[in-house]
Amino acid sequence: MIGEKIISFESIDSTNRFLKENYRFYPDGTVVVALEQTSGYGRNGRHWHSPRGGLWFSVLFKPRKSLELSFYTRVFSVAVVKTLENMKIHANIKWPNDVYINGRKLAGVLSEGIFEGAKPLAVVVGVGMNVNNEIPAELKTRAISLKEITGKEISVVKLIESILKNARVIFRKYSKKKEALTRIWKRYLLQKEGDIISLEGKKGKIVKINPDSLLIDFDGEIKKVYSLSPH
Ligand code: BTN
Repeated sequence: MIGEKIISFESIDSTNRFLKENYRFYPDGTVVVALEQTSGYGRNGRHWHSPRGGLWFSVLFKPRKSLELSFYTRVFSVAVVKTLENMKIHANIKWPNDVYINGRKLAGVLSEGIFEGAKPLAVVVGVGMNVNNEIPAELKTRAISLKEITGKEISVVKLIESILKNARVIFRKYSKKKEALTRIWKRYLLQKEGDIISLEGKKGKIVKINPDSLLIDFDGEIKKVYSLSPH
């Protein structure tokens, strides 16, 4: 069960990296949480600023049946948004799995798989959320913390408990009904099919939103896009 075993660190390089290196020794559902990460990373290997005050954790899955990686990511991005809803904070998901408030990023989810051939031996889902931590000046226009939104310190322990509880419910409910979770995730998405978006200086129309790709029509030429952020 998610969170049955929780391992806490004061400081670690990255909770995702720890579980990827040590998954053999821990059971399905193990959570690793750290007060700070010295070398946290996000999608496309980007540096993930993770000082004290934020919420940085990873969850280990040892799937018996194969599930897509993006399913795990959707479980946690929806769990984060639902936790915020319970706190009366409205958030959206920027495709594919960034949690946004007022045009700034609050949280991100990163799922990584360890495979033997096509069979996943382990999946590590990392969640990073700016809670009470200061956002560095260079990120201020793009990132936001919960403290900035609510004007007060938020308990990181209560937050992780709530996210894990929501994730457990969502995981149980939708493991066999992945399309239903995709529909819920789509309702929270900032992007909608038919929207015109700008990508690398070109305007295009979103024709289809998939969990791990977008089909975009650039003047009659349909392109498959896997990321909306520059790298
Ligand atoms: C993203 O938006 O690019 C995903 C960010 C994921 C960050 C979390 S923090 C906990 C876990 N450990 C890491 O090194 N990364 C993830």
